[in-house]
Amino acid sequence: MDSFCNFVKTFNIFILEDNINKAVELIKNARQITAFTGAGISVESGIPPFRGEAGLWNKYDPMVLDINYFFSNPKESWGIIREIFYDFFGNAEPNKAHFVLAEMEKNNLLESVITQNIDNLHQEAGSKTVHEFHGNSKKLICVDCRTVYKVGEISIKVLPPKCKNCNGLLKPDFIFFGEGIPQNAYIASVDAANKSDLFIVIGTTGEVMPACQIPVMAKQNGAKIIEVNPEFSKFTNSITDVFLQGKATEVMGKLSDALF
Ligand code: APR
Repeated sequence: MDSFCNFVKTFNIFILEDNINKAVELIKNARQITAFTGAGISVESGIPPFRGEAGLWNKYDPMVLDINYFFSNPKESWGIIREIFYDFFGNAEPNKAHFVLAEMEKNNLLESVITQNIDNLHQEAGSKTVHEFHGNSKKLICVDCRTVYKVGEISIKVLPPKCKNCNGLLKPDFIFFGEGIPQNAYIASVDAANKSDLFIVIGTTGEVMPACQIPVMAKQNGAKIIEVNPEFSKFTNSITDVFLQGKATEVMGKLSDALF
């Protein structure tokens, strides 16, 4: 049994190395590259994913992030939101995978990052063009006058926090269930899907609508798809051309070694 496990392990390493070489070829020959990231890229920064055994939705009721529920129960929703997004992983730092994407952009190998994450870690790693499909948890927005605050500017000790201008209810500047995608991010993402000839999809199940349509759109427009994930996703057997099976930091580290 041990020798069989070793064989499988060696075989998988061989496949990963081979696929890294294929990915590097695609990257070197691409005209415009976009990265599309999900919760998995931040797992190694200590932020748990949403789905799966260790997922947030196994511990918390997603109802607290329903927009109607939030308006009816702002104090209760805010209590859980503070625990998850500010106390629990507010201090997470970018990891190797975030840094490699920033390095690729700096070296003109990456046009933009489209992220479903709200953790701001791409920007903290140095990425400049980031389209935040679901918004950003490091900002708060007044639901009445739309004033935007940085998290540090407003105390969230007493809940719910209120707007300094109009005393309206403040809400994290990420989208809740029942809200639309921020228009600018949506338009920029569709544009990237129309123009890119290579998408690098990292750490996402491909299950969340409408975000999951973006890589599919890119594929339909002729883009090649490189996917990084330790598990198979909805994309793996449908649109993925080169599957790099492994954790984001490990795989992006190998890509970086091969590229720079
Ligand atoms: N490296 C890369 N990928 C990983 C890692 C890792 N270390 N660990 C887990 N993953 C993969 C999982 O295999 C899974 O495919 O990351 C994905 C995480 O899945 P989800 O938590 O469902 O995240 P995602 O598909 O990005 O959807 C997140 O769901 O509730 C919404 O709006 C919320 O943006 C959020 C979206």
